[in-house]
Amino acid sequence: MNSASRSLLSIEQLDAGEILKILKFARSMDPDRPRPLLKGKRVFLLFYEASTRTRTSFEVAAKSLGAQTVLIQSAGSSIEKGESLLDTGYTLRALGADVIVIRHPNAGAAHVMERHIDVPIINAGDGLHEHPSQALLDANTILRNKKSFKGLQVAIVGDIFHSRVARSACHLLSKFGVKIILCGPHELVPEIATTIAPGVSVARDVNDALHGTDVLMLLRVQTERLAGLKIDPADYIARYQMTSARLKMAKKDCILMHPGPIIRGLELTSEVADGMQSRILEQVRNGVPTRMAILARAVGKMR
Ligand code: NCD
Repeated sequence: MNSASRSLLSIEQLDAGEILKILKFARSMDPDRPRPLLKGKRVFLLFYEASTRTRTSFEVAAKSLGAQTVLIQSAGSSIEKGESLLDTGYTLRALGADVIVIRHPNAGAAHVMERHIDVPIINAGDGLHEHPSQALLDANTILRNKKSFKGLQVAIVGDIFHSRVARSACHLLSKFGVKIILCGPHELVPEIATTIAPGVSVARDVNDALHGTDVLMLLRVQTERLAGLKIDPADYIARYQMTSARLKMAKKDCILMHPGPIIRGLELTSEVADGMQSRILEQVRNGVPTRMAILARAVGKMR
């Protein structure tokens, strides 16, 4: 595998076999039993946007595999002085980067890096486009709770329009024939969302989305990206907030997921966030072995 094919840019361009290979390898990774698969390697974490879970879990994953990690955030770096994305990339390569993990506000940023810089690139979220490591850790979480994707119905409720998490999840789940229902108001779930991938439909009424659902994914309303769209929080809460009463509309053994950050009192109540069906912290925990697998794959050690 060359550096390009070891990159992880999007779920859309992976086939089901490669996804299962990564998920299987992730299940063999344990952060408490470190393996030196990245010993002597340098992993650069290049973050142009805020992050808590993604950044720290890539860092913990890289260190568990024996790598050195270096964090570059736009604030406090030459990015603030106007250095271009590619010049930053060339600089990191000159510093001996073996892997670059990048989060950027523009869709396609990771692809641009990958085209010009001969280092495996991992997309940790590019604008409204994709968030492949999140989709893989979510798939990992689903499989730990549901055994297989066969016959599953997944409902994704919230701000789909601004969500790279939802886009990557749709691509991944669709490759395994999962029935996906996207739910929210027109402003956040445009009708065109059904074209993301086969098997995707839209429901406006949250009860319709929940009926028969095995896995419920909630998303934050991304207020920082709304740009002119008007969402009335009181109206959103009245129609879409996940409460214990609403959650009862889903299957009895439905699990509740959320990529974080969660806004208690908006897209969900605390009772639901901390309830028996919540897998939110399990998702965070599964992020580390999943990202260990992604990093091992990046350096050609996924066997
Ligand atoms: C999300 C993101 O940044 O894409 N969070 C994450 O990575 N777990 C979603 C969000 O910011 O709401």
